[in-house]
Amino acid sequence: MRVRLRNPDRVVDVPGRRRVSELLDELSIDPDTVLVIRDRTLLTREQAVGEDDEIEVRPVISGGAGPRTPMGCLRCRAPAVIEVRRHHAAFCQPCFERHVRTQVERAVGAFDMFAREDRILVAVSGGKDSLALWDILLEAGYRATGMYLGLGIGGYSDRSGEVAHRFADVRGAELIHVDLRGEYGFDIPTAGAKGSRSTCGVCGLSKRYVFNRVALDHGFDVVATGHNLDDEAATLLGNTLRWQTEYIARQHPALPAREGKVKKVKPLHRLSERETAAYAFLRGIDYVVEECPLVAGNTQLRYKDAMNQLEKGAPGTKAAFFLGYLDRAAERFRDDTGAERLQACERCGQPTTGRFCAFCRARAQMLGERLAPPRDDQLVRELSNEAMPAEVYGAGPAA
Ligand code: FES
Ligand code: ZN
Repeated sequence: MRVRLRNPDRVVDVPGRRRVSELLDELSIDPDTVLVIRDRTLLTREQAVGEDDEIEVRPVISGGAGPRTPMGCLRCRAPAVIEVRRHHAAFCQPCFERHVRTQVERAVGAFDMFAREDRILVAVSGGKDSLALWDILLEAGYRATGMYLGLGIGGYSDRSGEVAHRFADVRGAELIHVDLRGEYGFDIPTAGAKGSRSTCGVCGLSKRYVFNRVALDHGFDVVATGHNLDDEAATLLGNTLRWQTEYIARQHPALPAREGKVKKVKPLHRLSERETAAYAFLRGIDYVVEECPLVAGNTQLRYKDAMNQLEKGAPGTKAAFFLGYLDRAAERFRDDTGAERLQACERCGQPTTGRFCAFCRARAQMLGERLAPPRDDQLVRELSNEAMPAEVYGAGPAA
């Protein structure tokens, strides 16, 4: 479509059909400052514009036309490359990278996430958040090893794995690669088709299980994940709408180690998705932009949409909601964790509240196996040795 912009007058060609709001977004135009006109009628943000349309974007406030007036960097006044609306700020590239690192340092310090000498296992998916996190930690001189879990989701997993390996190679960083099918006999697409859990449910369960297990087996002090502010706000919204107080209580940027569970931290929780994406882009990190093909039906996306709507109307809403929860409300839910005494899964030795852990139960269901402890004593001993490293029951960091 042809889009006519004013002040200065110019025409740009934009391919494809989209909503007015999306078009304005792409052109970096604040919808509150313009009228959008087609055939002398006004269009709302929700209306669609097509390939053959001729559109006029007419400013309603002086200076409100076209790309937003380029702002100077908040810190050094150099031309800005990115705006962060919730901070009413714009940054040049070096100052933006510094802003991102400062936010991570604040998170690490405020929640005592890890120390210089700690060995950190970074859960790497190949997406922007986890690679940005790994990059930030390496740049800051932390001992950060990546771990990639191959989920077997066709080309998407192949590309994610390649990206993670390339990132590690370029930086000479250590990457642990575990293949779900190779190690546990199933992959995520099969799991979604067979088990009683949703695909994303088994996916999340498998990740939590394998990352914890690998961290314990290799003696890591902490597992760090790339959850950002958008993720956390969306999750908190979902949990709050249903008053799932147990989940709310556990939604914390740093979960301490307890019997058989390694400490888990989320150093990016103060940064929005847009900030981590911009950081990854500006740092030249090649990440997988495509979404997981199995994402349809993921309920978290609905909460993300809802939060984005709220954020649009009032920038800063997500941060006020989640960071405000941490500051002023988290304490009130502290006793709701439902933390029961954990014991070793009779099958694999990982911590669980019942006889068998959720992962072993889900896996048995998928493989059509009967879930019972191995009978042969020799096997019991082997499995126990394999799955119960000293850290689980000894005086190690997780005990
Ligand atoms: Fe849920 Fe990929 S399995 S997004
Ligand atoms: Zn188990």
